Amino acid sequence: MVKVLFVCLGNICRSPMAEGLFKKHVEEKGLSEMIHIDSAGTSNYHIGKQPDSRMCKTALKRGITLDHKGRQLGVSDLDEYDYILAMDQYNFRDIRSLDKDSQIKASVIMMRDYDSEKSQIDVPDPYYGGEEGFTEVYDILDRCTRNFLKFLCEKHRL
Ligand code: 4NP
Repeated sequence: MVKVLFVCLGNICRSPMAEGLFKKHVEEKGLSEMIHIDSAGTSNYHIGKQPDSRMCKTALKRGITLDHKGRQLGVSDLDEYDYILAMDQYNFRDIRSLDKDSQIKASVIMMRDYDSEKSQIDVPDPYYGGEEGFTEVYDILDRCTRNFLKFLCEKHRL
């Protein structure tokens, strides 16, 4: 079993969307039994909350229901997961800063390293912007999660 965790700041916009898209791609390839998928936030702002209604609406238009409940990233996640995908550079720094002795199991990776149309390093934070920001995040994460799954399949011979 390969374990994958998507991480953003609030765990209500970008990372639950990445989780929903990745689950869909994994299901379509019949690999749900092989890959465990979750998401978390570096902050404690939205623990127990449903994903942002604007992100849910964008997802639903494309047939994806987001049913995650917000949770905060913990030190134990760094040993529990094989891959932790950070949405932006702040998330990346905050994830690494939990790793006090540099002996964690997880590979910590920037999500947009898997973007074939990468225009910047970060998946932009849509929270304070308009609806078009959520569509942009959806499109970025659709490409990234597809490419990341290709990478996983090759690397782990799935
Ligand atoms: P996310 O977006 O990190 O993609 O879930 C945000 C959600 C909430 C806040 C910031 C970003 N906030 O400041 O509450």
